[in-house]
Amino acid sequence: MSDSTHRDTEPAAPRVVLAVTGGIAVYKAVEVMRGLQHAGCDVRVTMTADAERFVGTPTFEALSGHPVADDLYAYPDSPIPHIFLADWADLVVVVPATGNVLAKMAMGIADDCLSTTLLATHCPVLVAAAMNVHMWRNPATQANVVTLRSRGIRFVMPQTGLLACGDVGEGKLAEVSDIVTAALDALAPAKQDMAGMRLVVTAGPTHEAIDPVRYIANASTGKMGYAIAREASRRGAVVTLVSGPVSLAAPRGVCVVPVVSAAQMRDATVAAFANADAAICAAAVADYTPASPADRKLKKGTDDLSTLRLIKTADILAELSHTKGDRVVVGFAAETNDLLKNAHEKLERKGCDLIVANDVSRADSTFGADTSRIAFVWPDRTEQLDTLPLDQVAAAICDRVATAVAGEGA
Ligand code: CTP
Repeated sequence: MSDSTHRDTEPAAPRVVLAVTGGIAVYKAVEVMRGLQHAGCDVRVTMTADAERFVGTPTFEALSGHPVADDLYAYPDSPIPHIFLADWADLVVVVPATGNVLAKMAMGIADDCLSTTLLATHCPVLVAAAMNVHMWRNPATQANVVTLRSRGIRFVMPQTGLLACGDVGEGKLAEVSDIVTAALDALAPAKQDMAGMRLVVTAGPTHEAIDPVRYIANASTGKMGYAIAREASRRGAVVTLVSGPVSLAAPRGVCVVPVVSAAQMRDATVAAFANADAAICAAAVADYTPASPADRKLKKGTDDLSTLRLIKTADILAELSHTKGDRVVVGFAAETNDLLKNAHEKLERKGCDLIVANDVSRADSTFGADTSRIAFVWPDRTEQLDTLPLDQVAAAICDRVATAVAGEGA
C-alpha cells in the first residue's frame, strides 16, 4: 500500500482546541498538548493575553503546527477565528482554567478570542482548573463550577498541594497524564449499551407544604440523579427525570418532569414507569408530610405552631418494586451508620433489585458532594466501590442497570 493510500483510509485525527488561560501552570499546557498529539490528536491553541505572559505563542505554534488564535481580528487560517475553531473542534480543553475564565464561561461572557471561542463551542468541553486555594474555595468560583457541571462541562479537579504562591491547599493543576486521559475519555464515543432503553430516574428532595410559605425538606441537591440521567441519555436511553426542586440545568436530551411534593413525585413516577424498562429512585423523598397544610400563612401569635401532625407519604420505590414484573428497579440508601445492614433490610423491605448504598456521614460521600463512595447491595452479594466523582458513580450504576435490563444478571 502506498503512503498516500494509507493516509486516505486512516480515520481522521480527533481535533482538540487547547484553550490556555493565564496562570503559572501554563507551561503544563504544553505537556498536555504533547500528550494529546502522542495519542493521535490534532491540536490547535487559543490563548489569552495573560497566558502569553507566562509562555509565548512561538512554543505553541512550533509544537502544534498551527497559528495560535489570540486575536479575533488577526488569525491567518480564518477571518472569523472563534467560529472556525468552534466548528473545527471535537473537544475543547481549557488548561489551566483560571477563576476568571470559569466566571466568564458561567456568565457567557465573550470578550477575547478564547472566551468567544468557548461561547461558540458546541462540542464537549473539559476544564482543568488551577488557581490559589482561596480563589478556588471562593463561593463565587464554587457556584460557577456547579453551574458549569450542571451544563455538562467536564472537570479535572485541582489537587491539594503546595501552590506557586506558597499557600498549601486545593488549587494545583491535576497531573498532565490525568488531564490527557480525561480528554481522551471525552473524545471516545459513549457506548450505546442503553440504546432504546426507557428509564425513569427520580432526583432531588421533595418539599412538603406546612403553609404557603413554609415546608419540610431535606439536604438532597439532586446531583446524583441528574448525573445518572445525563449518563443514561449519553448511552442511548430515553430518560424521564422526575425532579424535585433543585437548581440544576436539565441534562441534554432528557425529559424533565418538575415536581414539588412527594405525592406529585409519586404520580409522575408511576405514570412514567408504566412505559419504562427500568427505574432508578435517587430522590430523597420525604417520608412524612403535614396532614393538613394551611391555605394561608400561619401566624405565631394566633396559630399553634408548636405541633405539626404528619402522615406518611406513599413509598414510590416500594410501589414500583411491587408492580415491576421483570422490569428493573433500583433504590438508594443514604445512611449514617450500619450502612450495609440497613441497605440489606431496605432491599428486602422494598422488594427492589438493587440498592445503591452510600455513607452520608463521610465528607466525600455526603449530600451535595461531587464525589460518592457507594456499595451495590444485591440480594446475594455486595460490591464496594472506591470514592469516585459523581459522573463515574453514575456510569457504574448505568453499567449495572444496562446489564440487568438486558437480562444478563448484573
Ligand atoms: N423512596 C421513595 N418514596 C418514599 C421514600 C423513599 O421512593 N416515600 C425511595 C428513595 O428514592 C430511595 C429509597 O426509597 O431510593 C430510600 O429508602 P427509605 O426507606 O425511604 O430511606 P429513608 O428515608 O432513609 O428511610 P429510613 O428512615 O427507614 O432509613
